[in-house]
Amino acid sequence: MERRLATRMQDLQTSDIREILKVAVSSSMISLAGGLPTPEVFPVDELADITREVLELDGPAALQYSTTEGDAELRQAIADRMARVLSIKANADEVLITSGSQQGLDLLGKAFLDKDDAVLCESPTYLGALSAFQAYQPKFVQIPTDDEGMRLEHLAERLADTPRVKLIYVVPDFQNPTGRCWSLERRQGLLDLARRHDAIVVEDCPYAEIRFEGEPIPPLKSLDLDDRVIFLGTFSKIFCPGMRLGWTIARREILEKLVLVKQGADLHTATLTQRQVFRFMTRYGFRAIIEQVRDIYRRRRDVMVQTLDQELPPGTRRTHPCGGLFVWLELPPEIDARIVLKKCLEVDVAFVPGGGFFPNGGHENTIRLNFSAMPEDRIEEGVRRLAAVLRREMEMEPAVAIGAWQ
Ligand SMILES: Cc1ncc(COP(=O)(O)O)c(C=O)c1O
Repeated sequence: MERRLATRMQDLQTSDIREILKVAVSSSMISLAGGLPTPEVFPVDELADITREVLELDGPAALQYSTTEGDAELRQAIADRMARVLSIKANADEVLITSGSQQGLDLLGKAFLDKDDAVLCESPTYLGALSAFQAYQPKFVQIPTDDEGMRLEHLAERLADTPRVKLIYVVPDFQNPTGRCWSLERRQGLLDLARRHDAIVVEDCPYAEIRFEGEPIPPLKSLDLDDRVIFLGTFSKIFCPGMRLGWTIARREILEKLVLVKQGADLHTATLTQRQVFRFMTRYGFRAIIEQVRDIYRRRRDVMVQTLDQELPPGTRRTHPCGGLFVWLELPPEIDARIVLKKCLEVDVAFVPGGGFFPNGGHENTIRLNFSAMPEDRIEEGVRRLAAVLRREMEMEPAVAIGAWQ
């Protein structure tokens, strides 16, 4: 069978971590691993009403094939909302509805990437983008990052010396996996460099609205004077991920190409889902859910970072996310997070070792922790158990303080 598969399949492997975590699903498990939104905010009753309303008002049209670009009213509503909440100015015909923003990533890979083309990305970067792009066999060029975002001197060098740069892929707001948020200066600097090198920027933005404190920083797309940013948005974190609804904003000539590849992928995103989301948006909006989510995640983040600071051994560093779903840990270089994971699973705690977020390998001493999916007492207990395993691994006494990247 293997020899019949396309050669690109050689690069696509299930991650061993995914396999480990698959068997680690039990009700006693404290999972700090996935990136699941908390389900208590899912508006189950409202959606039942909305579904009835859609079927009554739209009738069979809600169950019919529809256009690849997406439902016209939903595209307009998204364009209006993006202008209102993120200052992104786009016409409805620059909005493509996708099956989650994950599909947007795949469509971009299909439309832009030939084998050995270069994708510049943050180090570390979102694993799902790596898997979406990997199928098109690019080379990933990782740009070092710090608390402010990509280090622009490195980006400038790589833009100058890397052949065939097709995309610069970034998650500027509360990044998955680090939880970091880019400063305005870095955002502007990245756009300047992209302009100078005529590069296309992909801004993947699921978390900007999940901010706990501080002033919002404008998305790249809102600062994009020459239409070189492709923006990926999603309802997954401000509504329900199971709806699988996202959107891509891009200038028309790019959007037309994405429509062509989406036609081949799925003809269009589910008509009924688009109508449900459109009617939910117009009847209720997302403000109430977002406020609830911010409140719940802020408290969970607080418990996670406080417990980490109390329990972790010295030589360990963490990020301090002001939004989003994740905290990132860096352990001493000799500690392998995969071994730590195996030991944590024995005491019913799961997390994601960070190595997978680096497409070119290394960094096995890093860990991604999720704080959106577990209640506060479980987070506290999970972090205590993780810290106990780490202390044993490092053969050290509990310490009073660790460094925090603020
Ligand atoms: C940075 C980033 N991009 C894209 C996605 C995919 O989201 P969805 O396909 O649910 O919109 C995620 C999901 O966690 C993410 O963290």
